[in-house]
Amino acid sequence: MTGFLLVLIHALMSFVLFSPGTYGKFFETDGTLTLLGGLSMLGGVLAFVVLWGYNTSFQTFLREDKAFIQFITSRTFLLWAMLLGASHVFFMGYEGWLSPAGWHGGILPVSLVAFAFLAIVYIVNLLGRK
Ligand code: HEM
Repeated sequence: MTGFLLVLIHALMSFVLFSPGTYGKFFETDGTLTLLGGLSMLGGVLAFVVLWGYNTSFQTFLREDKAFIQFITSRTFLLWAMLLGASHVFFMGYEGWLSPAGWHGGILPVSLVAFAFLAIVYIVNLLGRK
C-alpha cells in the first residue's frame, strides 16, 4: 500500500509535468514521443496498473479466492510485474548510464540507482522466493 501511494504521487506529478519543455528527451521535435520515451511510459503505466490491481485485490471479494491470491503473490507473477517497472527506468535511462561525463553534477542517474535496486531485488526473488 505504501509503495502504491508513493507511485500514485509520482504518476500524478509526472502527468502534470509531462511536456517537451520539462522532459525534452522523451519527445521528438514534432512533439510526438520518441520510441524509448514511449516504451518507458508504457512500462510505467502498465506497472502502475498492475500495482493498483494488486492492492485492490486484497480489498475486494477477490481476497476470498485462494487460487487468485496464490497466483498474484506467486514468484512467477511478481517477477513478471517487476519487469514492467524495470522496463520503465531502463528505456528512460540506459543511453546515459554508460557516459558518466554527461551525468548531472557527476551524480549517478536516479534511473540507474532504481534499476540497480530492482536488479538486486529481482535476483533475490528469483533465487530466494519459493
Ligand atoms: C502512470 C504511470 C507512470 C508515469 C506516467 C511515470 C512517469 C515518469 C516520468 C515522466 C519519469 C521521468 C522523471 C525524470 O527523468 O525526472 C519517471 C521516472 C521514474 N519513474 Fe515513473 N512513471 C509511472 C509509473 C512508475 C512506476 C509504477 C514506478 C515504480 C515501479 C516508477 C518509477 C520511476 C523511477 C524510479 C523513475 C526514475 C526517476 C528519475 O530518473 O528521475 N514510475 N516516471
